[in-house]
Amino acid sequence: MIETDFIASNFNSKLANGSVTWKTPSNIALVKYWGKREPQIPENASISFTLDACFTLTTLEYSLKERHSELDSESLEENLKQVQVDDSKFNFEVYFEEEKKDDFKPKIQKFFERIELYVPFLKEYKFVIKSRNSFPHSSGIASSASGMSALALCIMSLEKELNSEITDEYFNKKASFLARLGSGSACRSIEGELIVWGDHSEIYGSSNLFGVKFPYKVHENFKNYHDTILLVDEGEKQVSSTVGHKLMHNHPFAKQRFEQANHNISKISEVLQNGDLKSFIAIVESEALSLHAMMMTSNPYFILMKPNTLKIIHKIWKFRQETSSNICFTLDAGANVHVLFPENEKELINNFIINELVLYCQENHYICDRIGIGAKLISNN
Ligand code: DP6
Repeated sequence: MIETDFIASNFNSKLANGSVTWKTPSNIALVKYWGKREPQIPENASISFTLDACFTLTTLEYSLKERHSELDSESLEENLKQVQVDDSKFNFEVYFEEEKKDDFKPKIQKFFERIELYVPFLKEYKFVIKSRNSFPHSSGIASSASGMSALALCIMSLEKELNSEITDEYFNKKASFLARLGSGSACRSIEGELIVWGDHSEIYGSSNLFGVKFPYKVHENFKNYHDTILLVDEGEKQVSSTVGHKLMHNHPFAKQRFEQANHNISKISEVLQNGDLKSFIAIVESEALSLHAMMMTSNPYFILMKPNTLKIIHKIWKFRQETSSNICFTLDAGANVHVLFPENEKELINNFIINELVLYCQENHYICDRIGIGAKLISNN
């Protein structure tokens, strides 16, 4: 599919008002997206586990802007001016955890501007967006993936109200396409359990424009895979991902990094099918460290790991050596550690986490998550 396939047509914007709620998970990349070009096109393919316990719940209330067709002629002219002004702007309010959040508006404004071509009915409505996360806002867990995908799905539900003919397949693809324009990794949060985003010759159906389900049979070893997130540093992120991606422009190792990631997609695709956990570990940990290596070698440079991040990594390596368990770690663009492990080792590894790793977390905070199946429609009235 190409961009123009996502321009809404045949819609009938007569629906006066309504409200829709989606619950959308976060995701954790196994092969990382780091580096992009306009318009939100990734420099390499990435693959992620969709999560389950870390999610955003978003309600979009919409009402058609008023037209005041029955006004007397005197006020009509004045009113027409008003309507013109209204139609030239997006009209929305944002609430996060029950509080009005005007500082969230610029990001959403930018998102609306980017997607308007594809959902041209946006300016005909007034919106109230109400959101909350299952994880603490200050936990250092990026909420842009779950947040932007939830909003994209709400907008798709409105599109479906206006055009009931769209298929479920188109609905999900376009939701992912729109989410991508809000935040790249958000396009991997619509479905589960493993999502690939970015053109790759060995992944059938893959695209730079939206995420697709990993198209091959996944080995039993990866069923119910666990991700326990150790909250090492709950502060605000030191480098926003927008700034981070820019650091890959003119980065001395950019070309090699994009090649490495695409090569790792080929390797992990085989591993996900043959169940080779040792190779899985080698790819996933190398990807996490390569992501951080890119940040350490960019200009300006950053170290996003904290001393406790390293302590946890060394503990995991020691434990793996001593027990030959299949525990491993990955990182996102921050200090928190995602501890990944298969279902059949959960008792052993949960004990290890509680007894030996949690003490490195801020206020002993951690989140037990696992691979999930994707977003869920909660209500549509
Ligand atoms: C390190 O998706 O947050 O988590 O497209 O600018 O919103 P924007 O970036 P974002 O980047 C995520 C980067 C990452 C790796 C990954 O999820 O693949």
